[in-house]
Amino acid sequence: MARLFILLNSVALLLFGTDRFLVGANRPPAPVNVSVMNLRADSATVTWEVPEGDIIIGFSVLQQKQDGHMQRFIREVNTTSRACVLWDLEEETDYIVQVQSIGLYGESQASKRVHFKTLKKSDRFPSNSSNQDDPTVEGLDKSRNLQTGEMIIIVVVLLMWAAVIALFCRQYDIIKDNDNSNSKEKVKPLSERSTPEHHSGGLLRSK
Ligand SMILES: *[C@@H]1O[C@H](CO)[C@@H](O)[C@H](O)[C@H]1NC(C)=O
Ligand SMILES: *[C@@H]1O[C@H](CO)[C@@H](O)[C@H](O)[C@H]1NC(C)=O
Ligand SMILES: *[C@@H]1O[C@H](CO)[C@@H](O)[C@H](O)[C@H]1NC(C)=O
Repeated sequence: MARLFILLNSVALLLFGTDRFLVGANRPPAPVNVSVMNLRADSATVTWEVPEGDIIIGFSVLQQKQDGHMQRFIREVNTTSRACVLWDLEEETDYIVQVQSIGLYGESQASKRVHFKTLKKSDRFPSNSSNQDDPTVEGLDKSRNLQTGEMIIIVVVLLMWAAVIALFCRQYDIIKDNDNSNSKEKVKPLSERSTPEHHSGGLLRSK
């Protein structure tokens, strides 16, 4: 009986051990040489390399802001892809990215944390090469167009306000007129009442 117990125990241990061994063996190594390229105000490209030897069927990219909370988790199954574009980023903001490899039987540990900061909108092109003059001018034009658009909206809103105020004033005048006529009506009886007083005054005077 005791022997059976020991046997069962060792079988369990063996299974448990093998299981752990399998999991350990099948987890691919973490991606290396993680870096950030094509840095812009609103996007960046994360690239990495995968140590040879394991079958990698995909990757996960974890994106978070410097100040903490996780923002985005991209998971893609693609055996050849070693880059991922992060889009819709905020300008001049600190981000941290990590990459995981997906193997046949599990994901790798996360890679080292890589920090980057997005550019300011105005210096979208960090290098000052003359080739990039045209896009820069285009960008300026775009911002100018945006500004005129905003101006038009502001003017329209102001005009609408003016119209509303004018309407209100007219309404107010009408109400005031009504009030005035009302008070005139109220005044009338008073004046009627005052006439007897006048009369009485006259009477007094006549006395
Ligand atoms: C990582 O970069 C180093 C230095 O550039 C290079 O020697 C190494 O081969 C790279 N790792 C992989 C897995 O490509
Ligand atoms: C996998 O990635 C490569 C390189 O990034 C790309 O050319 C290819 O279209 C991708 N395949 C799929 C199925 O998305
Ligand atoms: C860009 O600026 C660097 C110095 O900041 C200068 O050496 C280089 O010649 C400039 N390139 C162009 C295309 O103006």
